[in-house]
Amino acid sequence: MIEGKIRLETSALEKTVFTDVKWTDFIIGQILMNSVKYRSNEPKIEIYGLQNQNGVTLMIADNGIGICKKDLGRVFDKGFTGENGRASVKSTGIGLYLCKKLCGKLNLGLSIASTESRGTVVSIVFPRSNMFE
Ligand SMILES: Nc1ncnc2c1ncn2[C@@H]1O[C@H](COP(=O)(O)OP(=O)(O)OP(=O)(O)O)[C@@H](O)[C@H]1O
Ligand SMILES: [Mg+2]
Repeated sequence: MIEGKIRLETSALEKTVFTDVKWTDFIIGQILMNSVKYRSNEPKIEIYGLQNQNGVTLMIADNGIGICKKDLGRVFDKGFTGENGRASVKSTGIGLYLCKKLCGKLNLGLSIASTESRGTVVSIVFPRSNMFE
C-alpha cells in the first residue's frame, strides 16, 4: 500500500466481533491485496463498519479499475481471473475462492459489488451469535 501510494481511510471500526482471528486476517488480507493489485489513479481504500439488526458488517471499498458486469458473478469461482486478472501476471484466481470457502466455514457473509467507474466494495458480514448455531 505504501509503494502504491494508497490513501487509507478508516471509520466506525469500534465494534468487537467474535470469530477466528487468523482466518479473518487471511480473508481481509486477500481483499486488500486485490484492492492494491487492481488499483487505478489516485488510489484510495476505505475501511468502515456498519451495524444492523443481524450483526456487523466490515466494508472494504476501493476506487480501482472495478469489475465488469459479466465477470462479477464469477469472481468467487475457483481459478477465475476475468478480464482484470488476465492482464496481470500475478493472478491465479484463487484468493476470493478461498475467502468464500473460509467465510462459509466461519459462518460469515461475503459479497462483492463493483462498477468499472466507481471501483469495488467487498463486505464481510459477522452475524450475531454465529458461534452458537
Ligand atoms: N478489488 C478488485 N478490483 C478489481 N478487480 C478485482 C478486485 N478483486 C477481485 N477482482 C477480480 O476478481 C478476480 C478474482 O479475484 P481473486 O482474488 O480470486 O484472484 P486474483 O487476485 O486474480 O489472484 P490471486 O488472489 O489468486 O492471487 C480477479 O482476477 C479480478 O479480475
Ligand atoms: Mg486476489
